[in-house]
Amino acid sequence: MSLVGESFLSSDQLTEKDIDQIFSRASLFKTEFEKKKRIDHLIKSEGLSHKVLALVFSEPSTRTRMSFQVAGARLGMRSVALDNPQNASISKGETLEDTFRNIAAMMPDIMVVRYNSNIDADATIKDLPCPIISGGIGSSEHPTQALLDAFTIKEFRGKVKGERVLIVGDVLHSRVANSNLILLRAMGAEVAYCAPAQFEPKNDAWKGVQSFTNLKEATEWATVLMALRVQKERHAGENVGFSMAEYRESFRIGGDQLQNFRSDGILLHPGPVIRGVEFSAFVLNDKRCKVLDQVTNGVFVRAALISIMLGLEVQHA
Ligand code: CP
Repeated sequence: MSLVGESFLSSDQLTEKDIDQIFSRASLFKTEFEKKKRIDHLIKSEGLSHKVLALVFSEPSTRTRMSFQVAGARLGMRSVALDNPQNASISKGETLEDTFRNIAAMMPDIMVVRYNSNIDADATIKDLPCPIISGGIGSSEHPTQALLDAFTIKEFRGKVKGERVLIVGDVLHSRVANSNLILLRAMGAEVAYCAPAQFEPKNDAWKGVQSFTNLKEATEWATVLMALRVQKERHAGENVGFSMAEYRESFRIGGDQLQNFRSDGILLHPGPVIRGVEFSAFVLNDKRCKVLDQVTNGVFVRAALISIMLGLEVQHA
């Protein structure tokens, strides 16, 4: 399915051709930016200053929101953001769905949304009169994070097909894990997870996915280690049955675990990383840790996606 003029809400919308197009354009943008510190001149169009990217985030974000804004700015677009519900009319009683309808009525060219699980909002965004990109919705999906993760795997491991990607941590509540499972398997990677029993995924998509209870064995198996944050905000205040100290004891990736990890493997994390919980400070300084490369790649992957959704063509410099 063409992405031009459509919304992008799930990794499962992407065909092999879409992924190739996004990755090839993101590579072009990254290479050109490294040489010239700009990419807007690659767009075959008379400039994009008349195009508006709207961001509506009702959950906190650092990377996704800023990355979309930087991507839009690098393309020459303008962006506007509503990112603090307390300063918006939601605080006066307007619903999130009506907020989306009203911002879409201002006719932005693309709207990026992030919100917690909300069935009414899910239905509403499918009917809005402008293309929507999911910037992360509840525990369901975060498809642009999966794209930038796969792009980073390809960059540092040379390919995605055949890679063994181990996802460690709170898989149950992770939209990143769900989007990565779909995308990485579609690209031919093997995906497995290592999680406390309380954080094992329950939805059908994860049935039959290999799991490890022992982090040492899991680390020896993997070529890519992807750690996830413990997402307390989605635990609804419930006691998960273990303390963070107990979690760290079994699931934190530190120097000891790295001794079992291959020398040419890579470590990823979607962020935010909680230092000392998912990764030790030592791991964050290891040359195999590509967390900040993921963030850099996110800008170029999102710029590629936006330009493709807008139907823009690029020229090679
Ligand atoms: N990866 C990610 O979604 O980070 P933010 O929550 O900071 O946007």
